[in-house]
Amino acid sequence: MIIDTHAHYDDEAFSEDREAVFEEIKKSGVGLVVNIGSSFETAKESVRLSEQYNFIYAAIGVHPSETEELNEEHMSWLLENSGKEKVVAIGEIGLDYYYDEPERELQKKWFRRQLEIAREVKLPVCIHSRDAAQDTLMILKEQKAEEVGGVIHCFSYGWEQAKIYLDMGFYLGIGGVVTFKNGKKLKEVVKNAPIERLVLETDAPYLAPVPYRGKRNQSGYLPLVVEAVAEIKGLPVEEVIRITEENARRLYPKLM
Ligand code: NI
Repeated sequence: MIIDTHAHYDDEAFSEDREAVFEEIKKSGVGLVVNIGSSFETAKESVRLSEQYNFIYAAIGVHPSETEELNEEHMSWLLENSGKEKVVAIGEIGLDYYYDEPERELQKKWFRRQLEIAREVKLPVCIHSRDAAQDTLMILKEQKAEEVGGVIHCFSYGWEQAKIYLDMGFYLGIGGVVTFKNGKKLKEVVKNAPIERLVLETDAPYLAPVPYRGKRNQSGYLPLVVEAVAEIKGLPVEEVIRITEENARRLYPKLM
């Protein structure tokens, strides 16, 4: 089966027709979806969705852009909820310097804090890193994140960076960008990286693959990403599905 390791069905983009989208997903060959929290509110929503739908699992964590609101009570909530049966990871957490806020020191503080939590509860992390390659690595190394493990979601850096993350034992999340004409950098990463370290993701509702580029994304479009990866790797589609499923299950050991 295809596993979508990163999607946001809590997003308001799905509030009108979430059930209908879930029906389409089930018909597409996608068997499991990990819904990822980004704010504190959506982390809660993520848990709720995982409790309501069999095929949905949850990651809970707060995205760097949403760290302004955080305090230690939120961290206690993360600690308490990480033990739930279908909570498989802490994320997405990380650094995003694309916009100038929240200030970088605040982002770093909560990135470190959530990495500590992941270590404490023994869950892998989903890392979001945008225009912040150096600081992300600095913090991951300082926190010995290779012992925590996880995925660099929506991998957007070049092969040189990819090698460093792979050496630390991280998986790379590959999504719609691999189908883009201007997705050359990611295609090179996919070509060079061992297939055993790639996982599929949509980041729905964002980053829909060609020919849906610019539209709302959903897990049912993942076969288009599978085809692109299969072509780059010179492998049959079924092999890519089989291997990336194994990878996703190693990445998130709590998936059933
Ligand atoms: Ni995301």
